[in-house]
Amino acid sequence: MEIIKRGGLVYGLDIDPLALKQSKERVFKACPNAFFKLKLANFSQLTAVAQKFGLTAVAGILLDLGLSSEQLADPDRGFSFNLAAPLDMRASPDYQVTAADLINGLNKGELYELFQKLGEEQHSLSIADLIVRTRLIKPITTTKQLAEIVMKAVKFRGKTHPATKVFQALRIVVNDELNNLKAVLPQAVALLKPGGRLAVISFHSLEDRIVKQYFKNNAQLINLNKKPIMASDQEIKANPRSRSAKLRVAEKI
Ligand SMILES: C[S@@+](CC[C@H](N)C(=O)[O-])C[C@H]1O[C@@H](n2cnc3c(N)ncnc32)[C@H](O)[C@@H]1O
Repeated sequence: MEIIKRGGLVYGLDIDPLALKQSKERVFKACPNAFFKLKLANFSQLTAVAQKFGLTAVAGILLDLGLSSEQLADPDRGFSFNLAAPLDMRASPDYQVTAADLINGLNKGELYELFQKLGEEQHSLSIADLIVRTRLIKPITTTKQLAEIVMKAVKFRGKTHPATKVFQALRIVVNDELNNLKAVLPQAVALLKPGGRLAVISFHSLEDRIVKQYFKNNAQLINLNKKPIMASDQEIKANPRSRSAKLRVAEKI
């Protein structure tokens, strides 16, 4: 929004039609005369999207990864263990596989691996075991059912909800988050003009690791901040979800 307010020409894309509509409305309300063009697209197709916009080189690219507060709070989307909803988790209606498909379709070993690798969940085995035993009785179709199973399987109660990591792992697979990120980074670098900047905001360590390694190993990039930039206490107070955000910025040589 700040770039738009200062007169920048901003092109944006989102995979979620609803998010796109909300962004358009928000920007129009704040700056009715802004130059702001949007397309419904997956950022893994950045080169093709830029071509459609007629862009060959840009001054900056911002990837704000993950999901918005609106998406997480939407009871119909199934992202939150705090809301009773169908176990969906698709950011785009074009994605074919829902979280319920994975929970009811993967075998115990596959579920274990999913929670272990993408959720870094310590209790993956007992959770996978209880899921498989529960779904023998009836399919697991709601966020509430899954959250209750995880709570039953994980005896430990910490500060964060025990289902946090399981939900993270499912979301990553349903939306192919890591592959999309790996696909967009080289396309973003190619699209930047020399001196242009690539900024990435990530919300979990698996994404941040990919960005960190990519910036470190790419000879065309100068890493502008060795450590990621984090939200201030004041920002976290105003927006608690910013707690896990990490911003990395690199400049193209
Ligand atoms: C953290 S939110 C961005 C919020 C936005 N900066 C704003 O201020 O409204 C992340 C957005 O990325 C979108 N998204 C997730 N994966 C995507 C992908 N592969 N391609 C395009 N958009 C994606 C989500 O639908 C979501 O709207």
